[in-house]
Amino acid sequence: MNSYKIGILAGDGIGPEVVDSACKVIDAIGRKYNFNVSYTYDLIGHAAIEKTGNPLPDSALTMCNNVDAILLGAVGMPLYDNDPSAKVRPEQGLLKLRKSLGLFANIRPITIFDELLFTSSLKPEILKGADILFYRELTGGIYFGTPRERRDNGNVAIDTLRYERSEIERIAHMAFKAASRRNKKLCSVDKANVLESSRLWRETVNELSKNYPDVALTHLFIDNAAMQLILNPRQFDVILTGNMFGDILTDEASQIAGSLGLLPSASVGNKVGLYEPVHGSAPDIAGKNVANPVAAIMSAALMFETAFNRKKEAEDIKRAISQVYADGFRTIDLAQETTKTEKILRTDKFTEKIIESL
Ligand code: IPM
Ligand code: MG
Repeated sequence: MNSYKIGILAGDGIGPEVVDSACKVIDAIGRKYNFNVSYTYDLIGHAAIEKTGNPLPDSALTMCNNVDAILLGAVGMPLYDNDPSAKVRPEQGLLKLRKSLGLFANIRPITIFDELLFTSSLKPEILKGADILFYRELTGGIYFGTPRERRDNGNVAIDTLRYERSEIERIAHMAFKAASRRNKKLCSVDKANVLESSRLWRETVNELSKNYPDVALTHLFIDNAAMQLILNPRQFDVILTGNMFGDILTDEASQIAGSLGLLPSASVGNKVGLYEPVHGSAPDIAGKNVANPVAAIMSAALMFETAFNRKKEAEDIKRAISQVYADGFRTIDLAQETTKTEKILRTDKFTEKIIESL
């Protein structure tokens, strides 16, 4: 294919800034490798609520069903976080999008740029060589189970953690396949010592493992997994989790990479895929041109690799980012005491450096 339609949902906070950077990099790759990209824009999150009253307007969903891939910035605003009575929330837009598009697998690679080994809060000797690929279930579990409601005049709250065998099987298959292409280790995370849904999870994953004799399967309880991840991240290859455990573990794992501002994700399932940074809307720094655009740009790289089957382009983007880090440039989140002021760049300038390196 020589032309691609990309749907853009920039969303809230730093979303628009980092998506803008990613689009500039996509355009530059298009020029270099000779293909065309066109963008269609729509609203999601607080930005959508403000204009339409709906965190995911129908027009946005229609648009998403008519593009080759979707790039999303971030959703969320503190004003909702501190208002438990808010009935309409930015996050509902993202959850509805994931569910409507059948994006049941959320893939989050944790890659370490060697140049950033010393910026993590963890010791470099613990991190060096760590390379983890998360498969997080994204359209089931406690995020979507019903009933979810208040009872007894609001004094009781109920959420439901529900999993069906088929939901576990489809994501587990993907995780096993990924492991057999990589270092052939799969660690499935659950809380089977307490939760019935986790016992079904473990049982299902164990049964599937018979189809993948080349993959060594292990299981960890979520609490232990959270600890092992920072104790010895190198022990992991592919990690398979349910929806909420994966949400929590991947934020933790972002520190292995050095900053939440570096991690990309791909959500895939039925047809069109959604590419978005793992980080949130970071409203405190929004509009200041200081956000780290690398997570969004790495999400674009994942899009090239996964949606467009253009591995060379994806590698080129990663190489360009490494080069900019090797040249000593940093956004403010990764600047250290020793970083010279002239090497600390704003979002747009940092993006330009990446494009120059392409
Ligand atoms: C993520 C985010 C979302 C989630 C929020 C914004 C709903 O934290 O993608 O990790 O919890 O899935
Ligand atoms: Mg999260």
